[in-house]
Amino acid sequence: MFEAVLFGLRDGVLVLNNSGEIIYANQAMADLFSVKLAELTGKRLIEAIRLVELTDLVEEAKTYRRPHEKEIKVFYPAEKTLLASVNIVKQEAGEDIFAIVFRDISEMKRLENLRSEFVANVSHEMKTPLTAIRNYAETLLNGALGDKDHNTEFVAKIEKHAENLSILIDDLLEISQLESKRGLGEFVPINVWRVVDRAVETLAGKARKRKIDLAVNCDNKDLTVSGVEDHLYRAVLNLLDNALNYTDPGGNVTVACDRLDGEIRIAIADTGIGIAKEHLPRLFERFYRIDKARSRDQGGTGLGLAIVKHVMNIHGGLVSVESEEGKGSKFTLTFPA
Ligand SMILES: Nc1ncnc2c1ncn2[C@@H]1O[C@H](COP(=O)(O)OP(=O)(O)O)[C@@H](O)[C@H]1O
Ligand SMILES: [Mg+2]
Repeated sequence: MFEAVLFGLRDGVLVLNNSGEIIYANQAMADLFSVKLAELTGKRLIEAIRLVELTDLVEEAKTYRRPHEKEIKVFYPAEKTLLASVNIVKQEAGEDIFAIVFRDISEMKRLENLRSEFVANVSHEMKTPLTAIRNYAETLLNGALGDKDHNTEFVAKIEKHAENLSILIDDLLEISQLESKRGLGEFVPINVWRVVDRAVETLAGKARKRKIDLAVNCDNKDLTVSGVEDHLYRAVLNLLDNALNYTDPGGNVTVACDRLDGEIRIAIADTGIGIAKEHLPRLFERFYRIDKARSRDQGGTGLGLAIVKHVMNIHGGLVSVESEEGKGSKFTLTFPA
């Protein structure tokens, strides 16, 4: 019975006798190292699995007579990180028997790396406005306070950077809420046109200021999708904000909504700077920006599209992009019928 349990286990299991010969291996073990199960038993460990680290680990367990554990990187058949634990299971006629359990921790490692990369990015993004604020404050304290030609400008810069910091924190909180799906609120039918109208209303002033023609093309004002209005509004707002930020004065931005083949779509098109092909695959990643300076200048955090992607994910929909460098971009939100 135990064999049946071990055999079905997802962790790789290997049992060795005192002379280092494999006396048992399960299927997961064979799969992890891409070898045939039958080829494992009877062989010495180093012959079956050519990993010096592993043999060393068993030697250590043998010498110190206690369990040993180690992370081992394997590059074949695919790159993975395994946690190998060696245990002395029992003694038979004065001889030790060892069990090695291999757990594939690659996914855990990948998430760990993503998390620390994210923390590093967040810290860096926060440091930029904070450093600026400190520098302006210091300049003011060191005498510029009395300099009537510049003091207001410096205080205005402090305010602007503080605002950027505050936008960054709001975006981070939103991402964290969307990722954990905490307190999302109930899904109810949402009028698409109303969401679009709210976002357009919010950014009409910005469009005017930037001399960009902002048009809405939503003939059917009765389209609805099931969702959370605030998040949908924020998704449309982020796309619209980008369209305005990355389009030069004199350009056009159009928001269109329609139903096609049962799907409901909201498309935001601009005649702006466009996006080169090589950037498209990573565009929706957190903090991915093509031109950091231009993005920061507009109060961008690099989180807008990541938020849009999360919002669409939660709504069972998709966001897609078509773009041509120098011509413009079109972002489309597609909701299932
Ligand atoms: N409509 C657009 N036209 C051109 N580039 C865009 C557009 N929308 C997004 N981008 C590019 O994608 C990047 C990521 O967008 P986003 O996540 O909203 O961050 P940001 O805060 O920089 O706007 C932007 O920095 C920009 O380089
Ligand atoms: Mg943005």
